[in-house]
Amino acid sequence: MCGIVGYIGHREAYPIIIKGLQRLEYRGYDSAGIALYDGTNIKLSKTKGKVSDLKEKIENEISTKGTLGIGHTRWATHGVPNDVNSHPHTSNSGDLVIIHNGIIENYDSLKQELIKRGYTFQSDTDTEVLINLIEDVKKNENLKLGKAVQVALNQVVGAYAIAVFDKNKPNEIVVAKLGSPLAIGVGDDEFFIASDASPFIEYTKNAIYLEDEEMAIIRRGKDIKVRKIQNDNLVDPYVQKLQLNLEQIEKGGYEHFMLKEIYEQPSAILDTFRGRLLSNEAIIKMVGVEDNMKKFLAADRIIIVACGTSWHAGLVAEYIFEDLARIPVEVEYASEFRYRNPVITEKDVVIAISQSGETADTLAAIKLAKSKGAFVFGVCNVVGSTIARETNAGAYTHAGPEIGVASTKAFTTQITVLTLIALRLARAKGTMSSSEFRQHLIELEMIPAKVEEALKSDAYVKTIADIYKDSKNFLYLGRGFNFPVALEGALKLKEISYIHAEGYPAAEMKHGPIALIDEQMPVVVIATKKGHYEKVVSNIQEIKSRKGRIIGIVTKGDTSVKELADYVIEVPETLECLTPLLTTIPLQLLSYHIAVMLNKNVDQPRNLAKSVTVE
Ligand code: AGP
Ligand code: GLU
Repeated sequence: MCGIVGYIGHREAYPIIIKGLQRLEYRGYDSAGIALYDGTNIKLSKTKGKVSDLKEKIENEISTKGTLGIGHTRWATHGVPNDVNSHPHTSNSGDLVIIHNGIIENYDSLKQELIKRGYTFQSDTDTEVLINLIEDVKKNENLKLGKAVQVALNQVVGAYAIAVFDKNKPNEIVVAKLGSPLAIGVGDDEFFIASDASPFIEYTKNAIYLEDEEMAIIRRGKDIKVRKIQNDNLVDPYVQKLQLNLEQIEKGGYEHFMLKEIYEQPSAILDTFRGRLLSNEAIIKMVGVEDNMKKFLAADRIIIVACGTSWHAGLVAEYIFEDLARIPVEVEYASEFRYRNPVITEKDVVIAISQSGETADTLAAIKLAKSKGAFVFGVCNVVGSTIARETNAGAYTHAGPEIGVASTKAFTTQITVLTLIALRLARAKGTMSSSEFRQHLIELEMIPAKVEEALKSDAYVKTIADIYKDSKNFLYLGRGFNFPVALEGALKLKEISYIHAEGYPAAEMKHGPIALIDEQMPVVVIATKKGHYEKVVSNIQEIKSRKGRIIGIVTKGDTSVKELADYVIEVPETLECLTPLLTTIPLQLLSYHIAVMLNKNVDQPRNLAKSVTVE
């Protein structure tokens, strides 16, 4: 979900746009492009790679003259990163040009309809479908660009921040927003468009942030009209005076990328199930699963290979797949799996989980599994990444770029994808009744709002962090679906605060680790109401009787743990198999605040890399 930049006014557009794209580089991307109106035609240049590659290419390829232009840094969702799939995209006539951040979920059905009407496509992107839909509406209904965009967007399911212009009307740009950010810089007789204010903050501090389902028709030297996309109602835009500096803008006003990404989880989870979870039709639609359903259903077992946080997501998936779909699952550290001469047959389905899609151990495990005839399914966050291309099929998490080294939104969106797969297989195998299935869909749809609610404990978690920040060791305990969350919470603390922490199944304490308990040992216990709650409460009593310091992660309204623990952090109630999506939130916040209080480099912790491409 990367970057858009646009300009219409009295200055040369190119320098503003190219620098604006460089300002947006922090958002992560795989390709870039610019379209300029040179007074007669649209000049367009785009390339896979960096903005610096684009700069070199464009300055040798086209004239960079023109006071109207749009630019884009792409984070591919549909169509691998390459020159053709890069933005901007033009319509079949060549008159219209678009840049887009987001995902058009129903692009395929729209594309098929447009092909029937004679449209052709150069790229594999959803965005090229949108610009031709706009052209089709504009032509058939003889509409102005603004109205055509509005009518077209009312046929679209998905998320977008778009900028569109028509070479025959070079004094106008149309923009629209749903689910992806779009800011409009209001200058003197000039307008700027961008994903955030960093590309235009040096030119103007007056900004309009479009709300969801709003669009704007911006006319050079004239005005800006903001309307509701659905009902065309005019909106009186609020022009705010920006106080942020450049660095603050890049982090969305948050102090660190990690905190920004913790707070992005509601929208990241929503983007991940959008278009896949259709609760009113009680169906889950995942092409990669549908096309390989036979393999999944015939599998003797599912082997999950991953590393680090992705391995923890795989462990959650083991509990979910076995509980809901009754399919045997084994979870393997990819680094172990690849060397231990495992028994693999063509009856095995391997699921490889990787945020970066570049982890060397996971890639090697995939290749080993494929060499022995297994079908390998990938769950990645980076479209077109090595692992995404190496696996036989897959499903992307739509978490958007994860910049902080400590993985947060990748973890919850991985669990979201894996839960969708488990539910789809459970439905196909008949291990879930239709009412149970529907109940899970409805509850999963409510998770983004429940994550929002869990995030409200942030300030309270910060007070707890201040109390325990000087501890030398932590224990994290959980049972069932939340045992992997205990492991993940311990990893988060270790990797950004450098405090030693261990995660254990709560019942495992009596087999040795309880010897560690004393008044110096904070013990984080995940004790949500579901599952073996009473057992966990007795584990807490065992710890308390040995003077352990207890931080309980409990279901909202819990009273029993509250009486025993030193502190309790509440999360909303949900289905047991979905609790990991909520219980992980306070653990992410706890590790973040402790690391900040200890003045650690939260976004780039020592010794770590965002993607471990070495073995
Ligand atoms: C988790 O916070 C770490 N960044 C690390 O454990 C990471 O999950 C692991 O290296 C796997 O990375 P991947 O998901 O990109 O394959
Ligand atoms: N879905 C569009 C594509 O894959 C836009 C992705 C983005 O937000 O950069 O090209």
